[in-house]
Amino acid sequence: MTNFWQQIPKPFMALAPMEDVTDTVFREVIESVSSQEILKVVFTEFTSTDGLCHNVGREKVIDRLHVSATERKLLQQSGTKLVAQIWGSEPENFFKSAQMLSESGQFDGIDINMGCPVKKVVKKKSCSALINFPDLAREIIQATKQGSDLPVSVKTRIGFNEIITEKWMVELLAENPAAITVHGRTQKMLSNGEAMWDEIGKVVQLRNQLNSDTIILGNGDILSYEMAMEKVSEFGVDGVMVGTGIFKNPWLFNENQEFTDIRTRLELLKKHILLFSETWDCRHFNILKRFFKIYVTGFEGAAEWRNKLMNAGNCIEALQMIEIFETGKVRSM
Ligand SMILES: Cc1cc2nc3c(=O)[nH]c(=O)nc-3n(C[C@H](O)[C@H](O)[C@H](O)COP(=O)(O)O)c2cc1C
Repeated sequence: MTNFWQQIPKPFMALAPMEDVTDTVFREVIESVSSQEILKVVFTEFTSTDGLCHNVGREKVIDRLHVSATERKLLQQSGTKLVAQIWGSEPENFFKSAQMLSESGQFDGIDINMGCPVKKVVKKKSCSALINFPDLAREIIQATKQGSDLPVSVKTRIGFNEIITEKWMVELLAENPAAITVHGRTQKMLSNGEAMWDEIGKVVQLRNQLNSDTIILGNGDILSYEMAMEKVSEFGVDGVMVGTGIFKNPWLFNENQEFTDIRTRLELLKKHILLFSETWDCRHFNILKRFFKIYVTGFEGAAEWRNKLMNAGNCIEALQMIEIFETGKVRSM
């Protein structure tokens, strides 16, 4: 299997893994309005290796790895790569999960979550807790590589309680991961404060000093393509990953960069709702509702109308309300 990370023209951008956000539907929505020269990599939500390796648990987590036929087609057309992100603390389960992901034929790479700061995973010696257990972290990378010939990457932070960027990255780089995404915050910072891009720059320098091939992505607080390119020139990262910035502008990976007019936004919202209902049977309508504010914003009366839309009980009702809104308001604008 080729290491696609080495083949991506630099600099490039990636859509961050986000739980309850970057399912196949949201990824497809974003891919459909992105420029293929800019958006090169997308990630699944983080998926438990313990869950994948357990008969009952598997059922609970498997939707996170679902790739719809329409997203698959789009990925093939654009050349954007899809990486499955996994988490856990048992090397054996990483090995087995890597085998499964490889055999599924759905993914271009496997990413190991060593960054999630939430208590329930940290307690299990997983995700960002691995920063405190570098030997286990390295064992996990080795096991994942042994289970699959897909390129294995790591997404992590610059420390747990304190910033230990270089000490931690030396451990990771020793395992020669295909890529490392560095979120410029410690576990303790959660999402607070500013992402420390100086620390991300140190990772690039270290990688260069060690003559390593590992691709370095920077992550944290990026709101536009221009901002990403500034970070590339200032800190030398190969790529920039965007998470929450996509909520402010779904067209962030589009060459034209326009946060387009209401009509276009509502068209995208309708597409999002339709894809969601086709894929998930609209079972989890409350999850879908969280996305409405992305689209229904930035115009007079947006808040009031958004509140109405939040009261919709299902996908059909939401689509009907948008239709009414379009007929009454947008068409007269
Ligand atoms: C709702 C939400 C869910 C997230 N889920 C994941 C996840 O599953 N895996 C992961 O590595 N990071 C996850 N993150 C962290 C993001 O990938 C990213 O590192 C973080 O938001 C910082 O980037 P940003 O400033 O561009 O948002 C999540 C963040 C948010 C806001």
